[in-house]
Amino acid sequence: MGNQGLFATEFLLFGLFQMLSQGSTQGGSGSGPCLTDTLGREFVTAYMENYDSTPSESEVQIHGYSASTSVWISDGSFNTSINVRQGEMVRVKLPPSVEILGNEKFSNVIRIKADNDITVVSFNNEEFSSETTVLYPVPVLGNEYYIVTPPSSGRREFSIMTHKEPSTIEIHVKGQLTFQGQEYNNGDTLNFTLPAFQVIQLQSTEDLSGTRIVAQKPVAVLAGHVCASDNTNCNHIFEQLLPVCSWGRTYIVPPVPFQRKHDIVYVSASQPTAVQYWLGGQQSNTSLEGGQVLQFEFNTSCPVYITTSAGVQVMYYSTGSAFKRYSYDTFLINIPDVNSYCLSYTVNGQVGFDNYILLVAKTSETEAITLDKQPLRNATWTQVPGTEFSWGMVNTSGSHNVAHPSSPFGILSFGTAERNSYGSSGACARKAEVFTCQVDFRHQEEQFKKCRNGSMPGHLNTNSPICSSVNSTIAGLKSICRRRSMEGSLKDAAQMFESIVNNSTLLTGGSEEEVATAVTVRLWAVEKLVLAAALRSPEKNQTLTTESMDIETRRITRNCSRDIEVFVLRAKEEMMDIHCETVAEASTQGHGVVALISYSDVVSILSKTFHDEEALSLGRKYNLNSRVISGAVGDGKPITLPRAANFTLRHRQINAAKEEVLCVYWNHESGNSTWSPSGCEVLHTNGTHTTCSCHHLSSFALLMASTDMEEDFTLTIITYVGLSLSLVCLLLAILTFLLCRPIQNVTTSIHLQLCLCLFLADLLFLSAVKLGIIHKVTCAVIAGLLHFLYLSCFTWMFLEGLHLFLMVRNLKVVNYTSASRFKKRYMYPFGYGFAALMVAISASVNPGGYGTDRHCWLSYDRGFVWSFLGPVCAIILVGTSPKHSASTSAP
Ligand SMILES: *[C@@H]1O[C@H](CO)[C@@H](O)[C@H](O)[C@H]1NC(C)=O
Ligand SMILES: *[C@@H]1O[C@H](CO)[C@@H](O)[C@H](O)[C@H]1NC(C)=O
Ligand SMILES: *[C@@H]1O[C@H](CO)[C@@H](O)[C@H](O)[C@H]1NC(C)=O
Ligand SMILES: *[C@@H]1O[C@H](CO)[C@@H](O)[C@H](O)[C@H]1NC(C)=O
Ligand SMILES: *[C@@H]1O[C@H](CO)[C@@H](O)[C@H](O)[C@H]1NC(C)=O
Ligand SMILES: *[C@@H]1O[C@H](CO)[C@@H](O)[C@H](O)[C@H]1NC(C)=O
Ligand SMILES: *[C@@H]1O[C@H](CO)[C@@H](O)[C@H](O)[C@H]1NC(C)=O
Ligand SMILES: *[C@@H]1O[C@H](CO)[C@@H](O)[C@H](O)[C@H]1NC(C)=O
Ligand SMILES: *[C@@H]1O[C@H](CO)[C@@H](O)[C@H](O)[C@H]1NC(C)=O
Repeated sequence: MGNQGLFATEFLLFGLFQMLSQGSTQGGSGSGPCLTDTLGREFVTAYMENYDSTPSESEVQIHGYSASTSVWISDGSFNTSINVRQGEMVRVKLPPSVEILGNEKFSNVIRIKADNDITVVSFNNEEFSSETTVLYPVPVLGNEYYIVTPPSSGRREFSIMTHKEPSTIEIHVKGQLTFQGQEYNNGDTLNFTLPAFQVIQLQSTEDLSGTRIVAQKPVAVLAGHVCASDNTNCNHIFEQLLPVCSWGRTYIVPPVPFQRKHDIVYVSASQPTAVQYWLGGQQSNTSLEGGQVLQFEFNTSCPVYITTSAGVQVMYYSTGSAFKRYSYDTFLINIPDVNSYCLSYTVNGQVGFDNYILLVAKTSETEAITLDKQPLRNATWTQVPGTEFSWGMVNTSGSHNVAHPSSPFGILSFGTAERNSYGSSGACARKAEVFTCQVDFRHQEEQFKKCRNGSMPGHLNTNSPICSSVNSTIAGLKSICRRRSMEGSLKDAAQMFESIVNNSTLLTGGSEEEVATAVTVRLWAVEKLVLAAALRSPEKNQTLTTESMDIETRRITRNCSRDIEVFVLRAKEEMMDIHCETVAEASTQGHGVVALISYSDVVSILSKTFHDEEALSLGRKYNLNSRVISGAVGDGKPITLPRAANFTLRHRQINAAKEEVLCVYWNHESGNSTWSPSGCEVLHTNGTHTTCSCHHLSSFALLMASTDMEEDFTLTIITYVGLSLSLVCLLLAILTFLLCRPIQNVTTSIHLQLCLCLFLADLLFLSAVKLGIIHKVTCAVIAGLLHFLYLSCFTWMFLEGLHLFLMVRNLKVVNYTSASRFKKRYMYPFGYGFAALMVAISASVNPGGYGTDRHCWLSYDRGFVWSFLGPVCAIILVGTSPKHSASTSAP
């Protein structure tokens, strides 16, 4: 059952992933579903053929964002390691051999690896022929691209490079290509396989714009021109392209204000797309087919604004012009879409150029933009017609940080020089409001590999359902983390959850370790997903109820207001209290989120064996006695809370007296999955709830260490069946004594009273001993009644013994009178009066002693239970001694 439940939820989780992915590709607004990050740790690139015959002096320019970052750069034939400090830009000169020439495959792909996030600008540099592009890291690479090559005499070119996986590649040709002696014309497909870390460069004198590339594995693509000329001399131009899934729908292209001629904008579509564009104030509409490229000229001081019905790629081709005392050449810029604008950029001015930064920002926010932490001066801003944006330009040199505290803006960086120029978009150093799931998958993937390789005990194989469920969970979360927006809210997912639960094919389980791994990965994935959804959702509060879990999330912007000091989140019957400051401190990209998830199905899976044996005292039997809950803030990274969070969990079984309660969390850091009590303590506990105070956030539950009176199911059954049988027998006996006149005498009337007491006591015990917990007074009354009835039973037993004793004596002495006297005068008053007296005394001395948190019986506190045990012991003592003397004196 436990494992089936696990798989059911594993499936529904995967279903949620699937649904969200569909939701965001179909109904998305704004930008595409994939990342457009420029921050990353791993990059590949190549240096395409550059016109000039002078030796290449290309470089990579690396910007660091951590105190210290080690970067390794290699193309197989050379190796360089550098260290970059925070805020520093390091130029790494590359040997001339990096340049690739002609229509060929090459193995000199440049690989850049760093141990922290960096941004990289690639500078392809020859005398009078320079160009830059911002590199997109490996996670941004995609499988489908469209080439743009500005029309100019000479050779257009593009190149495709693989990362660590070989890939088959199809090139659907527009224009004309020749490769390995074979000619490919408009509509032809060029197929080949590219091994890992290889690059293919293809050149043509025809316009290749609209050529489509489909790769089996993610690849990087550069497109441009060996040397493009329009108004002036020719210049090498290229940009790294974004895959189709990263394309956006809203673009603003600011003009180069000193352009005396006109520049060109290219809009590429991948599917039938309606395009609206404003040139100055002039609006135009058109529609494009997949693979079609719209091209229009725009002239000086006139920005372009484009909105489309589907994702498009927009390129800015500057045709060069004469300005100041010299004429500058062409450059190409891949325009970022408005929805991918960032809060902070780094821009590199190149040596020997007049360097400019073009900005596009919300008109109301232009004042707050800073250049190296100083207000941006000298920029004149111009409104972009039809939008709330303005564009501006500043002239700088060197490397800079440009930032806005909260409003995303766009940046283009370009430079001009005598017979030269370069251009690219800014390297985004901080994303705005878009949650990028800062998830480290390494640990989870390690777990999965273990699972697959069978290095964990138990019978394991690649196709083990539990392993593949782990894989699907990881893969699903990964695909979500690549996305830029989460369109489907948690609420929309609820229906999906249920339908999959009702459908899923149930699978057989795995070993304990596998189960622990699967659960760990699942708890982790749900947590990340919920936080991601909470961050991206426009709603501040979200709740979701499914068969398997309840979720509540809260999102705060900026600071905590005074009136909300502590958040209380509820999921099922569990609660979390957390300080607003804690949430604010763990905030991601200006938003603090907090989530509580309560699972109904995990408990049965995490059997009793997952215990931290060092931390828990041995020789005790521990039981999970609550739901498993997860609390998370920020992006879900483990943090130590400055002020503890309180969790209130409901007990699954009302716990028996003298049970030790432990607040524990699911600890899987060391590779061993255990319930561990460290960092958590019990604040308060009663029969039904326990409040824990914890200094970290994770998945929690309650462990009960039972010393005695363990609530065993079979024992309960035996109790109930036994008591019911005894009730039936007692009832029969009572009826017999009442209705059967011939046997009525003193003995049977004592029997009758005894049976009556026992019957009533059992009945009360059976029906009410646990109910009373609901109401304290009811419980106390029940406890008092039980006290009275059981004492009465013992008294009547004593009377029975006394009666027997007297009968035996009478057999010897032959004197009935004492017996009948005894019966008449004292039997009833004593039989019930003694018990009533005892209860009255006990109740007046300690009324609170009746009813406990756990059972409707006498409290163990202050020895109150002796108000029952005392009289009983006395009765037994008194009862045994005369019998004893009677039996010994009998012979
Ligand atoms: C470059 O370094 C890597 C790893 O540090 C090594 O495997 C490789 O052989 C080196 N290549 C050269 C040409 O030194
Ligand atoms: C290339 O691959 C496509 C799709 O797989 C196929 O339709 C086409 O026939 C292939 N072309 C060649 C020349 O192999
Ligand atoms: C801004 O303009 C002033 C005067 O025109 C000039 O002195 C200063 O250097 C300029 N600052 C920048 C950053 O260009
Ligand atoms: C893991 O899942 C991914 C994505 O669903 C799949 O491509 C891959 O083949 C799976 N790996 C294994 C070993 O099943
Ligand atoms: C369960 O789902 C599968 C695939 O999603 C579908 O083919 C099948 O018809 C569903 N079964 C039921 C009973 O809904
Ligand atoms: C979110 O929930 C809190 C507490 O229940 C409430 O004070 C707040 O108004 C809610 N916010 C929204 C936007 O519903
Ligand atoms: C948790 O409970 C303790 C003791 O009742 C209290 O002092 C503390 O403020 C609570 N913390 C939160 C976050 O409510
Ligand atoms: C996991 O537990 C086993 C046995 O209890 C122990 O030998 C091993 O060292 C533990 N592994 C880690 C990483 O703590
Ligand atoms: C136990 O404590 C919880 C919260 O601390 C409270 O809601 C509940 O009423 C208490 N139960 C009893 C039987 O006192």
